[in-house]
Amino acid sequence: MAKKRILSGMRPTGKLHLGNLHGALENWVRLQDEYECYYFVADWHALTTDYEQTEGIRDNVWEMVIDWLSVGLDPQKSTLFVQSAIKEHAELFMLFSMITPIAWLERNPTYKEQIQEMSQKDLHMFGFLGYPVLQAADILMYKAHGVPVGVDQLPHVELTREIARRFNHLYGVVFPEPATILTEVPKLLGIDGRKMSKSYHNCIYLSDPPEVIRRQVSLMVTDTMRPRKKDPGDPDRCLAFPYHRLYLPPETLDRITAECRSATLGCVECKKILAEALVEYLAPIRQRRRDYLEHPKKVQAIIEDGNARARTQAQQTMAEVREAVKI
Ligand code: TRP
Repeated sequence: MAKKRILSGMRPTGKLHLGNLHGALENWVRLQDEYECYYFVADWHALTTDYEQTEGIRDNVWEMVIDWLSVGLDPQKSTLFVQSAIKEHAELFMLFSMITPIAWLERNPTYKEQIQEMSQKDLHMFGFLGYPVLQAADILMYKAHGVPVGVDQLPHVELTREIARRFNHLYGVVFPEPATILTEVPKLLGIDGRKMSKSYHNCIYLSDPPEVIRRQVSLMVTDTMRPRKKDPGDPDRCLAFPYHRLYLPPETLDRITAECRSATLGCVECKKILAEALVEYLAPIRQRRRDYLEHPKKVQAIIEDGNARARTQAQQTMAEVREAVKI
C-alpha cells in the first residue's frame, strides 16, 4: 500500500537548538519510515516578520538544512526543499487569496498574538495577515494527508482545511483536507528558565562545541528553593531535570534523584554529569555537521534534488488547479 504523505515546514532561523530538536526534528526523523515526507524551509515566511532584515536569510537556510541532515533527515527517504525555489507556491497562494475571506485571517489567534508580542516591528502588512494562506498553499500543493506541527500551528492547519473545502466547493474537488499530526513537545526551558529561544540568548545549539555545552549547562537554573548544597533538593522543582531525563540512563537518573533529595549531590556536580551526557549525545550530530560543512557541494546537490522532486509534484498540482479554475 502506498504510504500516506505528510508535509511540514520550518522558518529558517539558522542554527537549531535543543528545543527545535526535541520539539520537532526528532519527530520528523521518526516519521520518515512511516510516511512519504516533504520537509521544507519556509524562507518566504521569514519575510512576513523580518522584511526589514533580510541579509541573514540565505545563511540561515543553509545552516538549518545542514542541521536537518545532521540529525538524520534523509534525502533518500524524504523530499527536502526550499520554498522560494518552487514558484508554484506563489501562484497557488495568489489563487487562494481570491477566495479567502479577510475575516478568517483577522480572527486567526496567532495574528493577533504576534502583532502584540512583536510590537517593536510593524506587522500591519498584507503579507503578514495573509501568512496562513501561503501556509495553506505550501500544504495543499503536495496534497498532504497530514501536517506534523506543534499546538501553536493548529489554527493554521484548520484554516488550510477551510480553504481546501472552499476551493473544492467552488471549482471541483482537487485537494484532500489535511489532518494535524500533533507533536508532543517535552517542556525544555532555556538555560535561564524561560522558553528556549534564539532571541533570549538562552539556547544550547546542536553545533555548540563541548566547552560551550559545558558552560551553558553550568549556567542552567536548577531548583531555586535549594540555595545551598546541604538543603535537600527536589528534581520536580529543578528546571534542568527534564534534560537529565532525556540524556541520562535510568540507573544514573535514579541515583542522582536520591542524592539530590538527600542533599548529598550538589547542583554543580549534578550539572557536570548532565553536561558530559549531553556532549556525548551531540557528538555524532556534531561530527556529521562538520562533514557536511566540509562538503558544501554535496549539500547543494541534496537541496537541488529535493527542489526538483518538489517542483515536479507542484507542477502537476498546478496543472489540475488551473484546469479547475478554468484559467
Ligand atoms: N508556520 C510554520 C511555523 O511558523 C512554518 C510553516 C510554513 C509550515 N508553512 C508550513 C508548517 C506548512 C507546516 C506546514 O512554524
